[in-house]
Amino acid sequence: MRSLLNEVEIQERVKTLGNQLSTEYANRPFTVLGVLTGSIVFVADVIRQIRVPLQVGFVRASSYRGRTTRSGALQLELDLLPDIEGRDVLVVDDIFDTGRTLAALCDVLRDRHPRSLRSAVLLTKRGRAEVEYRPDFSCFEIPDEFVVGYGLDYNGEHRHLPSIVVLEEGDL
Ligand code: IMP
Ligand code: MG
Repeated sequence: MRSLLNEVEIQERVKTLGNQLSTEYANRPFTVLGVLTGSIVFVADVIRQIRVPLQVGFVRASSYRGRTTRSGALQLELDLLPDIEGRDVLVVDDIFDTGRTLAALCDVLRDRHPRSLRSAVLLTKRGRAEVEYRPDFSCFEIPDEFVVGYGLDYNGEHRHLPSIVVLEEGDL
């Protein structure tokens, strides 16, 4: 495994995002909506850097894939979704790759009539987008490589790593 982003640079960037969100969402009915499972670490860290009131909710998205980044059929599970009508919703995901997950999720969430709907991702993979939609906040742009750690997995593993590392052939 090759280190791409270390713990310190991630924490610094997340803190900056938290400061920005504290300003943007002051005096608003703010809901942070994490996309399970990959966003858990990012959500846990960024909400602790936000100094205005907020609610936290989760939805689940899965696209059935391993190391290959070709998307499988996207599945959205909204059973955990809190009431977001009239609220300022920020969808938080680990990575914007093809963008299909976030684009589809935001389409579904708009039907629930949030007051506003924006998105934040930790990572954006360069040159991969297959949709018009772009996240409103992105912490790091990375090359087109398969990464794990800080919530991101390969076959369900490596989510606990505190940094972002590139998974190489020999690691499989
Ligand atoms: P998208 O719909 O193609 O943008 O894919 C987003 C989802 O694919 C993310 O939430 C991740 O779960 C997964 N994904 C995409 N690239 C990677 C990667 O490099 N490592 C781990 N998961 C990834
Ligand atoms: Mg995901």
